[in-house]
Amino acid sequence: MLVQALWIAVAYVLGSVPWGLVIAKTFCGIDPRTDGSRSTGATNVSRLCGFGWGVATLLCDVLKGALPVWAALAINPSPVFVSLTGLACVLGHVFSCFMKFKGGKAVATSIGVFLPLAFWQLLIAAALCLLVIWRSGYVSLGSLTLVAALPLLLLLSGIWSWLPLSLCLLALVVWKHRENIARLRAGTEKSWLKSKS
Ligand code: G3P
Repeated sequence: MLVQALWIAVAYVLGSVPWGLVIAKTFCGIDPRTDGSRSTGATNVSRLCGFGWGVATLLCDVLKGALPVWAALAINPSPVFVSLTGLACVLGHVFSCFMKFKGGKAVATSIGVFLPLAFWQLLIAAALCLLVIWRSGYVSLGSLTLVAALPLLLLLSGIWSWLPLSLCLLALVVWKHRENIARLRAGTEKSWLKSKS
Protein backbone atom coordinates (compact mmCIF):
# COMPACT_ATOMS: atom_id res chain seq x y z
CA MET A 1 0.00 0.00 0.00
CA LEU A 2 2.79 2.42 0.97
CA VAL A 3 4.76 1.53 -2.17
CA GLN A 4 1.70 2.21 -4.30
CA ALA A 5 0.96 5.56 -2.62
CA LEU A 6 4.61 6.55 -3.05
CA TRP A 7 4.54 5.52 -6.72
CA ILE A 8 1.45 7.66 -7.36
CA ALA A 9 3.33 10.63 -5.80
CA VAL A 10 6.39 9.87 -7.98
CA ALA A 11 4.12 9.71 -11.06
CA TYR A 12 2.77 13.18 -10.21
CA VAL A 13 6.32 14.60 -9.93
CA LEU A 14 7.44 12.92 -13.18
CA GLY A 15 4.31 14.24 -14.91
CA SER A 16 5.12 17.72 -13.61
CA VAL A 17 8.40 17.96 -15.55
CA PRO A 18 7.58 20.66 -18.16
CA TRP A 19 9.48 19.26 -21.13
CA GLY A 20 8.04 21.81 -23.55
CA LEU A 21 9.37 24.66 -21.40
CA VAL A 22 12.77 22.96 -20.94
CA ILE A 23 13.15 22.24 -24.68
CA ALA A 24 11.90 25.63 -25.92
CA LYS A 25 14.06 27.59 -23.44
CA THR A 26 17.18 25.47 -23.88
CA PHE A 27 17.20 25.03 -27.64
CA CYS A 28 15.49 28.14 -29.00
CA GLY A 29 15.59 30.63 -26.14
CA ILE A 30 11.80 31.06 -26.14
CA ASP A 31 9.39 30.86 -23.20
CA PRO A 32 6.27 29.20 -24.66
CA ARG A 33 4.22 30.52 -21.69
CA THR A 34 4.46 34.04 -23.08
CA ASP A 35 4.07 33.42 -26.81
CA GLY A 36 1.74 31.69 -29.28
CA SER A 37 -1.10 29.96 -27.46
CA ARG A 38 0.97 30.29 -24.22
CA SER A 39 0.85 26.54 -23.77
CA THR A 40 3.95 24.50 -22.95
CA GLY A 41 2.64 21.65 -25.12
CA ALA A 42 4.10 20.18 -28.30
CA THR A 43 1.77 22.17 -30.60
CA ASN A 44 2.92 25.52 -29.25
CA VAL A 45 6.59 24.49 -29.12
CA SER A 46 6.27 23.36 -32.74
CA ARG A 47 4.61 26.69 -33.61
CA LEU A 48 7.35 28.74 -31.91
CA CYS A 49 10.51 26.64 -32.34
CA GLY A 50 9.84 24.47 -35.36
CA PHE A 51 8.40 21.05 -36.07
CA GLY A 52 11.42 19.07 -34.81
CA TRP A 53 11.32 20.58 -31.32
CA GLY A 54 7.55 20.05 -31.27
CA VAL A 55 8.09 16.36 -32.01
CA ALA A 56 10.78 16.16 -29.29
CA THR A 57 8.33 17.72 -26.80
CA LEU A 58 5.60 15.32 -27.89
CA LEU A 59 7.89 12.30 -27.36
CA CYS A 60 9.02 13.47 -23.90
CA ASP A 61 5.45 14.25 -22.79
CA VAL A 62 4.22 10.87 -24.10
CA LEU A 63 7.04 9.03 -22.31
CA LYS A 64 6.41 10.76 -18.98
CA GLY A 65 2.89 9.31 -19.13
CA ALA A 66 3.81 5.89 -20.46
CA LEU A 67 6.80 4.95 -18.27
CA PRO A 68 5.16 5.42 -14.83
CA VAL A 69 2.08 3.47 -16.03
CA TRP A 70 4.28 0.64 -17.36
CA ALA A 71 6.02 0.53 -13.97
CA ALA A 72 2.64 0.62 -12.17
CA LEU A 73 1.47 -2.41 -14.17
CA ALA A 74 4.59 -4.23 -12.96
CA ILE A 75 4.11 -3.15 -9.32
CA ASN A 76 0.43 -4.10 -9.17
CA PRO A 77 -1.84 -4.44 -12.22
CA SER A 78 -4.98 -3.47 -10.24
CA PRO A 79 -7.02 -1.11 -12.46
CA VAL A 80 -7.57 1.31 -9.54
CA PHE A 81 -3.84 1.67 -8.80
CA VAL A 82 -2.82 1.85 -12.47
CA SER A 83 -5.58 4.39 -13.23
CA LEU A 84 -4.57 6.56 -10.25
CA THR A 85 -0.96 6.45 -11.46
CA GLY A 86 -2.00 7.53 -14.97
CA LEU A 87 -4.23 10.26 -13.57
CA ALA A 88 -1.37 11.48 -11.34
CA CYS A 89 0.95 11.79 -14.39
CA VAL A 90 -1.61 13.85 -16.29
CA LEU A 91 -2.50 15.98 -13.24
CA GLY A 92 1.25 16.66 -12.85
CA HIS A 93 1.38 17.78 -16.48
CA VAL A 94 -1.64 20.08 -16.06
CA PHE A 95 -0.87 21.36 -12.54
CA SER A 96 2.93 21.17 -12.53
CA CYS A 97 4.64 21.60 -9.16
CA PHE A 98 7.57 23.10 -11.16
CA MET A 99 5.40 25.81 -12.79
CA LYS A 100 3.32 27.18 -9.90
CA PHE A 101 0.66 24.52 -10.57
CA LYS A 102 0.10 25.61 -14.14
CA GLY A 103 0.84 23.42 -17.14
CA GLY A 104 -0.11 21.89 -20.47
CA LYS A 105 -3.35 20.74 -22.04
CA ALA A 106 -3.06 17.05 -21.09
CA VAL A 107 -3.13 15.50 -24.57
CA ALA A 108 0.37 14.06 -25.11
CA THR A 109 0.64 12.75 -21.53
CA SER A 110 -2.82 11.15 -21.82
CA ILE A 111 -1.63 9.43 -25.01
CA GLY A 112 1.39 8.15 -23.08
CA VAL A 113 -0.79 6.86 -20.25
CA PHE A 114 -2.94 4.84 -22.67
CA LEU A 115 0.00 3.47 -24.65
CA PRO A 116 0.54 0.51 -22.29
CA LEU A 117 -3.18 0.14 -21.47
CA ALA A 118 -5.10 0.08 -24.76
CA PHE A 119 -2.60 0.20 -27.61
CA TRP A 120 -4.92 -0.64 -30.55
CA GLN A 121 -7.73 1.61 -29.38
CA LEU A 122 -5.18 4.42 -28.94
CA LEU A 123 -3.81 3.78 -32.42
CA ILE A 124 -7.28 4.09 -33.99
CA ALA A 125 -8.01 7.24 -31.93
CA ALA A 126 -4.64 8.71 -33.01
CA ALA A 127 -5.40 7.91 -36.67
CA LEU A 128 -8.76 9.74 -36.32
CA CYS A 129 -6.94 12.66 -34.68
CA LEU A 130 -4.44 12.90 -37.57
CA LEU A 131 -7.29 12.70 -40.10
CA VAL A 132 -9.11 15.59 -38.39
CA ILE A 133 -5.91 17.68 -38.23
CA TRP A 134 -5.19 16.96 -41.88
CA ARG A 135 -8.73 17.86 -42.99
CA SER A 136 -9.28 20.87 -40.69
CA GLY A 137 -5.78 22.15 -39.89
CA TYR A 138 -6.79 22.45 -36.19
CA VAL A 139 -4.63 20.46 -33.76
CA SER A 140 -7.06 21.29 -30.93
CA LEU A 141 -9.96 19.69 -32.84
CA GLY A 142 -7.80 16.63 -33.51
CA SER A 143 -6.85 16.41 -29.81
CA LEU A 144 -10.50 16.62 -28.75
CA THR A 145 -11.41 13.93 -31.30
CA LEU A 146 -8.71 11.64 -29.91
CA VAL A 147 -9.81 11.86 -26.27
CA ALA A 148 -13.51 11.62 -27.18
CA ALA A 149 -12.91 8.56 -29.40
CA LEU A 150 -10.92 6.68 -26.75
CA PRO A 151 -13.77 5.90 -24.29
CA LEU A 152 -16.03 4.97 -27.21
CA LEU A 153 -13.42 2.59 -28.61
CA LEU A 154 -12.89 1.06 -25.16
CA LEU A 155 -16.65 0.52 -24.88
CA LEU A 156 -16.83 -1.04 -28.34
CA SER A 157 -13.93 -3.35 -27.41
CA GLY A 158 -15.59 -4.35 -24.12
CA ILE A 159 -12.65 -2.98 -22.07
CA TRP A 160 -14.21 -1.66 -18.87
CA SER A 161 -11.10 -1.41 -16.66
CA TRP A 162 -9.76 1.80 -18.18
CA LEU A 163 -13.09 3.45 -18.96
CA PRO A 164 -13.26 5.65 -15.79
CA LEU A 165 -9.68 6.84 -16.46
CA SER A 166 -10.47 7.64 -20.10
CA LEU A 167 -13.56 9.64 -19.03
CA CYS A 168 -11.56 11.58 -16.41
CA LEU A 169 -8.92 12.43 -19.01
CA LEU A 170 -11.61 13.42 -21.51
CA ALA A 171 -13.10 15.85 -18.94
CA LEU A 172 -9.64 17.27 -18.15
CA VAL A 173 -8.68 17.73 -21.81
CA VAL A 174 -12.03 19.38 -22.67
CA TRP A 175 -11.66 21.74 -19.70
CA LYS A 176 -8.06 22.63 -20.69
CA HIS A 177 -9.25 23.27 -24.27
CA ARG A 178 -12.13 25.56 -23.24
CA GLU A 179 -10.49 28.58 -24.89
CA ASN A 180 -9.70 26.54 -28.03
CA ILE A 181 -13.34 25.37 -28.11
CA ALA A 182 -14.58 28.97 -27.83
CA ARG A 183 -12.25 29.97 -30.70
CA LEU A 184 -13.33 26.97 -32.81
CA ARG A 185 -16.97 27.96 -32.30
CA ALA A 186 -16.20 31.58 -33.19
CA GLY A 187 -14.13 30.53 -36.21
CA THR A 188 -11.04 32.27 -34.84
CA GLU A 189 -8.91 29.23 -33.89
CA LYS A 190 -5.55 29.43 -35.67
CA SER A 191 -4.76 26.68 -38.11
CA TRP A 192 -1.56 24.89 -37.14
CA LEU A 193 -0.65 24.81 -40.82
CA LYS A 194 -0.60 28.61 -41.04
CA SER A 195 -0.09 30.01 -37.55
CA LYS A 196 3.16 31.26 -36.12
CA SER A 197 1.56 33.06 -33.16
O1 G3P B 1 -2.54 19.46 -27.47
C1 G3P B 1 -2.69 20.84 -27.50
C2 G3P B 1 -3.48 21.21 -28.73
O2 G3P B 1 -4.67 20.48 -28.76
C3 G3P B 1 -3.78 22.67 -28.80
O3 G3P B 1 -2.62 23.41 -28.60
O4 G3P B 1 -1.21 25.41 -28.53
O5 G3P B 1 -3.01 25.24 -30.26
O6 G3P B 1 -3.64 25.58 -27.87
P1 G3P B 1 -2.62 24.99 -28.82
